Amino acid sequence: MASFIGRTMMLMLLILFLTITCEARTYVRIINDLGGGLNLTVHCKSADDDIGVKVLRSKEWFEFSFKPAVIIRTDFYCSFQWPGSFKWFDVYYEARDLNDCSECWWSIKSTGLGPCRLNWETNEYDHCLPWNKD
Ligand SMILES: *[C@@H]1O[C@H](CO)[C@@H](O)[C@H](O)[C@H]1NC(C)=O
Repeated sequence: MASFIGRTMMLMLLILFLTITCEARTYVRIINDLGGGLNLTVHCKSADDDIGVKVLRSKEWFEFSFKPAVIIRTDFYCSFQWPGSFKWFDVYYEARDLNDCSECWWSIKSTGLGPCRLNWETNEYDHCLPWNKD
């Protein structure tokens, strides 16, 4: 009897452990849609992680992924640099994005308000947000 309870407990702990560790990842993708053959230099960070500096050629993209934290919020911000411009943007802001995207794909253009996120329903980059204020 004791061993039956013991085994049931172990099984429940295992299930709990798997539920926590297999939690879905979030994917952030950055696409260079500046046009004009311009390279885009991107540097993304969170409080704990530094993704490093990436240079994207025209139309090139890169992606990183992470598990949104349960207790402490996860936020990733990047700097975006191309000739004549230096911008900041929160590519993942948990309070804004947690229930909105698990594949957060951002198109970076030199024109307009700021980055535009892929809307998976319309298949268009029509969810545009302003660059961060300095
Ligand atoms: C873009 O970057 C690549 C190397 O990463 C370089 O070879 C190329 O000349 C750059 N293009 C422009 C337009 O600066």
